[in-house]
Amino acid sequence: MSAPGRHWLASPVESGAAAGFGLYVHVPFCSHRCGYCDFATVAVGERPADAPFERYVEALVVDLARQVARLAPLPAVTSVFVGGGTPSLLPADLVERLLGAIRRECDVVDGAEFTVEANPESADPAFLEALVAGGAERVSIGAQSWTPSVLATLERGHDAAAVERAVVAARRAGLPRVSVDLIHGTPGERESDWVATLDAVAGLGIDHVSAYALGIHPGTPFGRAVAAGTMAPPDDDDLRVRFELARERLGAAGFEHYELSNWARGTAARSRHNVLYWRHGDYLGVGVGAHAHLDGHRWWTTRAIERYLSAVESGGTGAPASPGAPDRRAGAGAEASEGVLGGEERLSEAERATERLLLGLRLADGIHPADLPPIDPLALEDALAAGLVETSCGRLRATRDGWFLLDEAVARLTP
Ligand SMILES: C[S@@+](CC[C@H](N)C(=O)[O-])C[C@H]1O[C@@H](n2cnc3c(N)ncnc32)[C@H](O)[C@@H]1O
Ligand code: SF4
Repeated sequence: MSAPGRHWLASPVESGAAAGFGLYVHVPFCSHRCGYCDFATVAVGERPADAPFERYVEALVVDLARQVARLAPLPAVTSVFVGGGTPSLLPADLVERLLGAIRRECDVVDGAEFTVEANPESADPAFLEALVAGGAERVSIGAQSWTPSVLATLERGHDAAAVERAVVAARRAGLPRVSVDLIHGTPGERESDWVATLDAVAGLGIDHVSAYALGIHPGTPFGRAVAAGTMAPPDDDDLRVRFELARERLGAAGFEHYELSNWARGTAARSRHNVLYWRHGDYLGVGVGAHAHLDGHRWWTTRAIERYLSAVESGGTGAPASPGAPDRRAGAGAEASEGVLGGEERLSEAERATERLLLGLRLADGIHPADLPPIDPLALEDALAAGLVETSCGRLRATRDGWFLLDEAVARLTP
């Protein structure tokens, strides 16, 4: 089933280093922290005059330059993703400053994917024009639902009309690629609400849709409500029905289902940055709560904004001292980052194999034979017989049922 030896790590065809090289930049500010959200964010209210936007962007620019210097030589960047939080809360001049610094500090290849996330209510023409001026070519807008009661439960500060306005404004500003995020399984959402949402998004003329099942995270208001029994958690059978409805309605509208939660109008419209994650590729992370991965060495930064700002202002950076070095002292990176790092780990070959399977099986295309870690033929037979995976031309894929049982599929495939 797999190529012999360490071929899957050393000479990958689509995974690891072959997947490109990404840059993720995190902007943690939001008007309001939605009750379900577990990302590194801080609420700054509707009039965020006191928010440290400028100080934060300055820290991002300095941190990025230090990371690039410390980690040189780095591969050329094939995808940039500025996410949040709510990047569209930043004033347009700061957006341009940040995007300009990314282009200046990194070797961004011609034709690289360059995405910035936005919330519908703040994705105004000034912000969208700043994206174009800064070299971005893709915007990802968090719509979540078209149903007012669902948006209210999710504590969203916009209606469906704001999403439609943002999409039109993005096109007018000259952004060729627009993606919209949706969530299904919100308490109180009816099947008809989800169908109406899917049909509305299919009619927007955009090229990409992410449709996530509502995740309940401990430590969020939704997580606490579910633990206290005051909110019903999403029902697995309902989520499966919603997933099949998404396949059906988006498929009928010309979207190809290329990853568990993602649909694109053709291969070129797939999110290359996210495909890089699912192919267990390498990427830098800049800002609070950002993750990075280089050849089996993973690290992440603090989620605390003030700690991040003062650490960067005192000379720290979000890159460990000796990434990739096999004899790295425990904690050496954390010391060198002077408080920016939140943690780091070095993945063993077995852990990398497990992750590559778990992530790669999320993709409809599955995993290329040359990129497959060694799999015991009996274990493969077992996973095939259980209906969790299938093979075609040597590629290993999850079945439709297997997509919902990925942990089990991978547990059967790995010793
Ligand atoms: C990091 S958020 C940033 C997007 C932007 N701030 C917004 O909310 O419009 C990216 C997307 O993750 C999804 N998301 C966040 N928390 C989620 C959860 N608990 N369950 C499912 N999807 C979630 C939402 O669809 C959201 O648009
Ligand atoms: S879902 Fe988006 S707007 Fe809501 S708290 Fe998370 S990052 Fe902020």
